Amino acid sequence: MTHCTLIQPEQVIDLRWRVLRAGRPRETAIFPGDEAARHHGLWQDERLLVVLSLFPTPLVHGGANYPQQLRGMATDPSSQGQGLGSILLRAVQPLGPLWCNARIRARPFYARAGWQPIGETFEIPEVGPHQRMVWAP
Ligand SMILES: CC(C)(COP(=O)(O)OP(=O)(O)OC[C@H]1O[C@@H](n2cnc3c(N)ncnc32)[C@H](O)[C@@H]1OP(=O)(O)O)[C@@H](O)C(=O)NCCC(=O)NCCS
Repeated sequence: MTHCTLIQPEQVIDLRWRVLRAGRPRETAIFPGDEAARHHGLWQDERLLVVLSLFPTPLVHGGANYPQQLRGMATDPSSQGQGLGSILLRAVQPLGPLWCNARIRARPFYARAGWQPIGETFEIPEVGPHQRMVWAP
């Protein structure tokens, strides 16, 4: 059985580090503003397998306001591709409107959950090409 809960900032760091900042110093997995963000996790058998964070960083686009940015979306490598990330993403979507800078490889993952791309793809140094995406209930 899986369940989703709010978690503490320090609980997201290890998964973020292993999945999103592999091979780089642990500090790179600590994001500015983590203390002010809301962190969500998906658990299976007491193991934290997926994390994401919602930062109070607003984006205005096309006359619409997206008050929160989703960042640090990461599923444990041994559990990727099993639908767990989608469960956690859909669990937080009612807290939207949301926006994110999606890794190009993850674009289909967000699109399947109803997110729309906006603008051109762009490069984030040391991370790679990204696509800005938005979601509104
Ligand atoms: C993207 C990610 C969070 C999705 O979580 P998940 O639990 O694997 O998601 P689901 O099983 O619900 O959906 C699988 C989809 O995620 C995407 N995906 C799967 N593995 C991925 C990976 N290593 N990197 C990026 N996207 C991936 C694909 O679109 C996949 O669809 P497919 O099975 O049709 O190819 C997870 O795969 C991950 O942590 N990837 C590496 C880090 C990353 O890219 N994070 C997103 C930053 S914007």
